[in-house]
Amino acid sequence: MEMITFLNEFVKFPRNTGAIAPSSNKLARKMVDSILFNEAKVIVELGPGTGVFTKEIMKQKKKETLLILIEINENFYRNLQKKYEHDETVQVFHGSAENIREYMTELNIEAIDYVLSGLPFTSLPLDVSKRILENSKELLVPKGKFITFQYSLVKKAFIQGYFPSISKKSMA
Ligand SMILES: C[S@@+](CC[C@H](N)C(=O)[O-])C[C@H]1O[C@@H](n2cnc3c(N)ncnc32)[C@H](O)[C@@H]1O
Repeated sequence: MEMITFLNEFVKFPRNTGAIAPSSNKLARKMVDSILFNEAKVIVELGPGTGVFTKEIMKQKKKETLLILIEINENFYRNLQKKYEHDETVQVFHGSAENIREYMTELNIEAIDYVLSGLPFTSLPLDVSKRILENSKELLVPKGKFITFQYSLVKKAFIQGYFPSISKKSMA
């Protein structure tokens, strides 16, 4: 079911969706394995889609850690909103990750410990990607991490322009 939903959204919004299927659970575990869950107060996920990474964060986060999801696709947003509506430690926003500052202000949050991104930087417009990376960088605490995955290294130098210290892991 999740595969079909995702594929449908890819057909409607190929550039934003960026993939034909949700990520695997294996990738989700890898995405969160550098998060110090005992210390994290605020985690933001950009482009959660059907929530594969979200599920993994929820498994491991401390109860009081705030998780903020920002999703541009209305169907994905609605599903996530419904799924987490009874959990006040999860806040779901419908809109672009470019507006991350606005959403943080709404929640009275000044700093983020981790930004986890599922965004398809290879297919997003350059100015959109720039705004997202710039704003995320400004909001992260000094020791904060921006965690992302990419199917190719095409955008590595671009991302490195904002986050010079990259540690790279492969799926093998
Ligand atoms: C490649 S999918 C990844 C979905 C999920 N994280 C996964 O790995 O299965 C990209 C997601 O980013 C969302 N997205 C694209 N542009 C966005 C933006 N500017 N702001 C927020 N979400 C965005 C898409 O709607 C989609 O859900």
